[in-house]
Amino acid sequence: MLYKPAGLKLSEMRIEQERYPEKLYLKRIDKLRGIREVQKEFNLQLEKDIQSNNAVNVKNTLVNIVQETFSEPRSGSIEGISETVNLLVSDFAKESEVIKNLFRVSNKDYTTVLHSINVMALAIGYAQNEYFSKTEKKKIGLCALLHDVGKTKVNSEILQAPRKLTDDEFHQMKAHTIYGYEILAKCKFIYPEIRLTALQHHEKLNGSGYPNNITDISKMAQIIGLIDCYEALTNDDRLYRDAMVPFNAMTLLKDDVVAGKYSWRIFEKFAYSLK
Ligand SMILES: [Fe+2]
Ligand SMILES: [Fe+2]
Repeated sequence: MLYKPAGLKLSEMRIEQERYPEKLYLKRIDKLRGIREVQKEFNLQLEKDIQSNNAVNVKNTLVNIVQETFSEPRSGSIEGISETVNLLVSDFAKESEVIKNLFRVSNKDYTTVLHSINVMALAIGYAQNEYFSKTEKKKIGLCALLHDVGKTKVNSEILQAPRKLTDDEFHQMKAHTIYGYEILAKCKFIYPEIRLTALQHHEKLNGSGYPNNITDISKMAQIIGLIDCYEALTNDDRLYRDAMVPFNAMTLLKDDVVAGKYSWRIFEKFAYSLK
């Protein structure tokens, strides 16, 4: 085992000669500190990736950041993701169109992490199209990125089941909304919309959603809920069904709008943002 005091970096020589352990053991009390350090380093990398306008690298770095953060989903680590979203809503990222390209970069393994990043890319695209202020963009980016954080508490076999879920499994799956709310309620975010979106993003305006069958849904949760559904339809989130092309996904969502599940205005705005 390698013991190393905090603040001291491994020397370049050691790294070159690969004189370091394969696994790094951390005391539990140092775990959060470790994650914050990793987030900081990855954010520096992300800034460079954005500046070089390389959507593939941006996406890979984002996967690393989100994966690391979701490995310890609690207050102290989750807030660190704010800086990441800050970088993505910067003027520079907007000019380089890196956000638009981000969603188009496809990845082989479809996970909650990738889904969350895709939903965030689409949500920031929506916000850019609507000329949201930078603060509003940051808020919607965070709501999108963290909407499914509760899935970290759901059994991974249920999340990856290559078949339709049983009633009991679906019941457990639905609880990710409540878990997400509970996790985010303990975090020090200034926007209450973040935890509310985690709780309400599966609710439908006609009361047919979950977990509470409410019809009075916050605007943010309505936007993220629609984008969430579009993202899941256009990526094969379940192995037993094929991904839809955008046109077909929008047609299906339009039927849901007609059925009273989603707002027309939000649907229209989202459609324009996809152009
Ligand atoms: Fe969800
Ligand atoms: Fe989702």
